[in-house]
Amino acid sequence: MERIHITDVSPRDGLQNQQVQVSTADKLELIRLLAAAGVQSVEATSFVSPKAVPQMADAGELVARLNAAALPGLRSSVLVPNLKGLERAHAAGAREIAVVLSATETMNRKNINMGLQEATEVSAQTLAEAQRLGMRTRAYVAVAFDCPFEGETPLSEVVRLAARMREEGAGEIVIADTIGSASPGQVKARLGALREVVPVAQLAVHFHDTRGMGVANAWAALEAGVRRFDASVGGIGGCPFAPGAAGNVATEDLVLMAERSGFSTGISIDGLLDAVDFAEAQLQRALGGRAITWLRRQREKERGTQAARTA
Ligand code: COA
Ligand code: ZN
Repeated sequence: MERIHITDVSPRDGLQNQQVQVSTADKLELIRLLAAAGVQSVEATSFVSPKAVPQMADAGELVARLNAAALPGLRSSVLVPNLKGLERAHAAGAREIAVVLSATETMNRKNINMGLQEATEVSAQTLAEAQRLGMRTRAYVAVAFDCPFEGETPLSEVVRLAARMREEGAGEIVIADTIGSASPGQVKARLGALREVVPVAQLAVHFHDTRGMGVANAWAALEAGVRRFDASVGGIGGCPFAPGAAGNVATEDLVLMAERSGFSTGISIDGLLDAVDFAEAQLQRALGGRAITWLRRQREKERGTQAARTA
């Protein structure tokens, strides 16, 4: 079976916009549950201004504790918007970073208080410095389909910025549908153009499920040859600076789709359900992607069968 690689972004994208402040210990427990489920890569946190995103104020402590926990088989990255974020991340012991470049002028201003040109140069400098420090790198190209402020994002801009981030040495270029407005035909067309400038093995996709098309979009990306996906357990997530965005495509939905379609993920859905249960208890509300009711029913049946066998 062909393998796909999933980065679970729930500790960062999932928690950055929650009403409830989750403690560092509970964030760590969420990550531990993800690792126990077989998740090999998480985006753990972001080193952004605590004034902008108070939910991520504990980034340094979380990274230190995560490193101390030495969860086997788990890679973790952190989002950094600028050199200051990189410096903080490096001091805390982070080994992989992601820069965030939006493909429109207004989204960059709203998100990181820089125009497109400055954001591009700052992302390039941050990538260069991270590589000098021996860190692995990812680069988000955000609002790669539509911008909540400017409408449809010109494909030429997305291609130009993805090519630039690759030139600057980003190990992975993450094409992000920040507000969850993409549809499968558009995904196919955009990834077809992006493959011309970035080797497909280095392309990742990051879908939000605002219009219920997250899994369909992931399938379109698979068909376009992409094998790297961001997702968030329980479908939590959303950018506080991009109005109207729902959560990410749920990791459990993505794993179900991929495994049922003949791809292997290395991830156990039962393990993910434990993480969803835990996140629900923390956030005090119902979570889960499109398949959650069916997945839980399956788990109950399976447990019933096991109990009958051992009785
Ligand atoms: N981490 C922590 N503090 C930071 C920082 C970082 N990465 N970058 C800048 N700061 C601090 C500065 O030191 C300065 O502190 P001071 O007021 O105590 O002197 C203050 O923030 C203002 O610095 P400035 O460079 O003017 O930043 P800004 O106000 O223009 O904000 C960002 C820029 C990028 C820091 C801010 O917009 C941000 O954190 N955005 C993150 C958005 C986000 O997380 N979006 C969701 C994920 S995509
Ligand atoms: Zn996102």
